[in-house]
Order: sequence, then C-alpha cells, then structure tokens
Amino acid sequence: MDKSLKIVVTGASGFIAKNLRQYLSEKDVELISISRNDFRIFTGEKKIISNNYEQKNILKIIKNADALIHLVGIGKQSVNVDYDTINTNLTKHIVNLSNISRIKKIVFLSGLGVSRKTSLGYFISKYNAEREIIHSGLNFTVFRPSYIVGKNDLFSRNLKNQIKCGEILIPGSGSYSIQPIHVSDVVKVIFESISQPKFDNKIIDLVGPDYVTYENYVKLFSKGTKTKISKINLENAYHDAIINSKSFFGVDDLNILIGDFKGNYERLSKISQIKFQSVLDMLQSGRLLQ
Ligand SMILES: NC(=O)c1ccc[n+]([C@@H]2O[C@H](COP(=O)([O-])OP(=O)(O)OC[C@H]3O[C@@H](n4cnc5c(N)ncnc54)[C@H](OP(=O)(O)O)[C@@H]3O)[C@@H](O)[C@H]2O)c1
Repeated sequence: MDKSLKIVVTGASGFIAKNLRQYLSEKDVELISISRNDFRIFTGEKKIISNNYEQKNILKIIKNADALIHLVGIGKQSVNVDYDTINTNLTKHIVNLSNISRIKKIVFLSGLGVSRKTSLGYFISKYNAEREIIHSGLNFTVFRPSYIVGKNDLFSRNLKNQIKCGEILIPGSGSYSIQPIHVSDVVKVIFESISQPKFDNKIIDLVGPDYVTYENYVKLFSKGTKTKISKINLENAYHDAIINSKSFFGVDDLNILIGDFKGNYERLSKISQIKFQSVLDMLQSGRLLQ
C-alpha cells in the first residue's frame, strides 16, 4: 500500500522536513518536496525549488497527491517577514493549491498552546492557519507540537551553544514545564496520520511522555559537561530578547516557555498506538548531546 502513496512536503530543508523526507523515502512513497533553496534529495524524491510557491511551477507535479504535509513556519518575526505572511497567509495559499490540485489530505504543524482564547501574536497566526485548514474542505490532521528534539533541532542547538559558552541561563524560576517529543516519533505519527483514517479531521497534541520542568531538563541536558546553570531575572531575559535580535531567547520563545503548556499525551498515544521514546531517558544516556 505504501508504494502507491504520493506525498508532498513543503519547507523541505527545515529540521522536521529533513527527518520526515528521509523516513518517507525509506517507506518508498512517491515523494515531492518543495523548498525555496536547492537541497540534496533522498532516493526516489522529486524536488521543486520555488521562492513563493507559485501555482504555475507546482500544480502539475503535485496533482492528485494523497497528502500534502505543510512544514513551512516561522517562530520569530522581523521587519522583512512576519507571522501573518508566513504562518497564516502562506498556509491559506497552500490550502488553495491543494484544493486546485485535488490533493486528498493536508497535515499541518501548529503549536502546543494554540487556542481560540490566545492573545499571543505567534499563536494567533497559527490559530488562523488552523482555521484555513479546517475550513478547506480537505481531509486534514492538525498537530499541536511541544518541543520537537533530535539531531540539530533549534531548541537543543540553543542549549548546546550555551554549554559551549560555559553557562546555561534559565529565565525566571525554571519551574515551568515542557513536554518534549523526539523527531523520530514525530515522523512516524505524521506518516500514520496519512495512512490511517482514525487521524482524519482531528486536532491532536504532539507531545512526549515526559512533562518536565525547564530547570530539570536543562540539568539533565548538560549532565557531565561542567556547565554552570544560572537563573536570570525574567525582566532581564525579556529586555535582552527585545533589544538584541541574537539573544538566546526570542520574545516568543520566552512566552511559550513561561506559558507552561501541557498537552494530552494519553490521547496521542491511544490514537497512534506508538510507544513513544522518553526524551528524558535519551538525555540520561547522553544521546541528545551527540
Ligand atoms: N520544531 C519544533 O519544535 C516545532 C514545535 C512546534 C511547531 N513546529 C512547527 O513545525 C513546522 C516545521 O518546524 P521546523 O522545526 O522544521 O522549522 P524549520 O527548521 O525552521 O523549518 C521551517 C521551514 O519553513 C520554510 N520557511 C521559513 N521561512 C519561510 C519563508 N519566509 N517563506 C517560505 N518558506 C519559509 C523553510 O523551508 P525552506 O528553507 O525549505 O524553504 C524552513 O526550513 C513549523 O511550522 C513550526 O512552526 C515546530
């Protein structure tokens, strides 16, 4: 059955997309990946380079695909690019493309903490994107992920950079929690969501089995590295985020951390029937630092 699946991935050179494309390539699906920049393809993969996903370059190739997995997204704004443009409007464009090209299903990665009641700009852009997907008329699965970790993810890279500097800074108390999930489990669930109808037309939290305070996570992450761990005043952390575009934490990174969002792991585990890896166990064994 896997052989006959035709799957499109957007944002192909991103962290999750790279892991997913490799997984899908190993599953022998007919894979079409779209990126703004050139990239190395996996076995059997077709690539499309497109700056703004113009219809004329893409339509014919992606026509009648079984699914499109939309992995374009930004978590930081600048004067050149904002959340509305990329997270919401580009999603709307991709939904439109999917409809015109008769794609059967769309899978979207939103964010843990997104809700109708949110007042955060980042979450609002993701919520509006979710609405575009839900009202598209397409079969869909929307995932709301917590921190997705693996080789070269942004969150772990940030911590590794701090370790290199000899000190990890914890904004505020560090008693807020995160629910990390490993990317190898994420790609399995995404693939399941395409091939199994029980995922159809659902919004599902994408979280791991551990709900751990940031302080404990950082301690485990830096275990055996002799890194100093210091708490910094939240006001100073926000001040740095506001005035310094290269700060370890952006304003929305802090908002999401302090937001202390908890997802429904039991529901994910029940729907997927996957035995998820414990990121804490991986940290204990030092596997995430490699
Ligand atoms: N990683 C996580 O922990 C996490 C957690 C929650 C939600 N998510 C969501 O999951 C999705 C993928 O995340 P990721 O971690 O793989 O992110 P990523 O590595 O930053 O990849 C996102 C991709 O989006 C595309 N993109 C960025 N800016 C763009 C622009 N201005 N125009 C067109 N395309 C643009 C790029 O693809 P190309 O360079 O190939 O064009 C980029 O590689 C995102 O929507 C993200 O919000 C991720």
